[in-house]
Amino acid sequence: MEPSTKTRVLFVCLGNICRSPAAEGIFRAIVESRGAAGRFEIDSAGIGNWHVGQLPDKRMRVHAARRGLDLTHRARQVRPDDFDRFDLIIGMDAGNISDLRALAPSPEAEAKIRPMASWVRTLATRYDHIPDPYYEGAEGFELVLDLLSDACSALFDTLNS
Ligand code: 4NP
Repeated sequence: MEPSTKTRVLFVCLGNICRSPAAEGIFRAIVESRGAAGRFEIDSAGIGNWHVGQLPDKRMRVHAARRGLDLTHRARQVRPDDFDRFDLIIGMDAGNISDLRALAPSPEAEAKIRPMASWVRTLATRYDHIPDPYYEGAEGFELVLDLLSDACSALFDTLNS
């Protein structure tokens, strides 16, 4: 399959060590379990550069591992050429969305930006964003993984239909 036929999805959060690498891992696992790995390119990135090169936060890796996910992404910062390389650029909260809008080099690029919570189904009445778990306890990480699993499954259904 030619690369241009793939749907290219970039998940973005603030630090690229908690929410977006988890979204990347969850979405990749869904795509692989549905035999669709060849049809997607999946990556994640951060608005900030504080954690560039690092593995996801240990707490996120521990909680994800309990769900069978091995998170091995190395943090990187969003780059201008991401707006060319990806079809969908998915931010986790309103801050990420407004930062991405400010970085978008053109109206076409800006049109690729979407809020992750727009795909959340089960908890949608309570969460209009994916809350930053960095200063939270274990329940914050579990909540993020629940929200991301829900949203990634809906995202796959949308892109697969
Ligand atoms: P993330 O969480 O955006 O989900 O990766 C954060 C990680 C680090 C920081 C903030 C949020 N930080 O300020 O270093």
